[in-house]
Amino acid sequence: MLLEDWRQPIDMEWIGHWRSSGQHAAADYWQARLKLAEKADPPAWPQEEMTHWDGTVYREHLRDEAARNARRTDGNRMRARWQYLFGPTDKSRWAGNWVIDVGCGEGETALTLANPATLGYRYVGVDLSRNGLQCARQDSPSGDYVQADVEHLPFRPNSARALLVLGTLHHLRDWRAVLVDALDLAMDDAQILIYEAIERPVGLSRFALARRLGRLAKESEHENRISAQALLSVIATHAEIEHVEYEYSPVRTALVHFLGSRLTTNSRLTSVVLWLDHFTIRTLGHFVPVFGAGAIFVRAIRSRRAPI
Ligand SMILES: C[S@@+](CC[C@H](N)C(=O)[O-])C[C@H]1O[C@@H](n2cnc3c(N)ncnc32)[C@H](O)[C@@H]1O
Repeated sequence: MLLEDWRQPIDMEWIGHWRSSGQHAAADYWQARLKLAEKADPPAWPQEEMTHWDGTVYREHLRDEAARNARRTDGNRMRARWQYLFGPTDKSRWAGNWVIDVGCGEGETALTLANPATLGYRYVGVDLSRNGLQCARQDSPSGDYVQADVEHLPFRPNSARALLVLGTLHHLRDWRAVLVDALDLAMDDAQILIYEAIERPVGLSRFALARRLGRLAKESEHENRISAQALLSVIATHAEIEHVEYEYSPVRTALVHFLGSRLTTNSRLTSVVLWLDHFTIRTLGHFVPVFGAGAIFVRAIRSRRAPI
């Protein structure tokens, strides 16, 4: 199901219908929109951001069959996620519950996780981009997809058995506030899986470097300005951190540039690059921080106990 047209008038009967047929994601979504509509000054959606993702990023992908097929392969990004996040996580604990994916995009994660028929949970992807959601639904029709601004998440707190926030925070105006709201959606003991690009020296952030060299007119959100320390400390206020992994050494970044799209489609090459990456971070990166990572993977368990 795709709940996409947030502009149409809201009908109370729909909420009752969704609720009585057990489709709580849909019911919550409409209820939240109703609440926003009742406010004298409802929050505006980030239009620029929406146009960017809808018009530039996902429109291309929708048209491009080859890109969709590439996403089906055991590519570099998804391999790392399996290695650090999804693989070691006991997904049987999600059965009968919701898995909320904050900023699900065009559904790379849905493609691997949204199979309620076999795994018994309900995958709900939330994103601003209607094109992205359409793409996700096309590839993984068993998931539910909600078009919403994650700065106003349309779900009840304490409603997800697993919460995924993968590569979304650095696109937001106030990542801390969104992360805290998102963490609140997780039930006690729910699993929290986070992946985020983290701060690295200007010389190793290609976007920061491009701006310095005058190739980019304005600041890019890809300049990796979220520090690992800040991210971990926000997570630790709401959850117990189980495991942290770092990724994206300069060696890997160079290889990705060099090998290009072959890396997303060739699984043997992917294994070699992931191994090199891991090795560099644990050896050189340990002694010379400049060889450290550009991304972090965090597995945590939601806990409502006060932080120590
Ligand atoms: C880098 S993509 C990550 C997509 C997906 N999680 C993945 O890892 O493949 C960032 C996503 O955040 C979404 N996004 C950015 N700002 C948003 C907002 N304010 N509300 C909802 N989604 C937003 C974009 O549409 C995009 O799909």
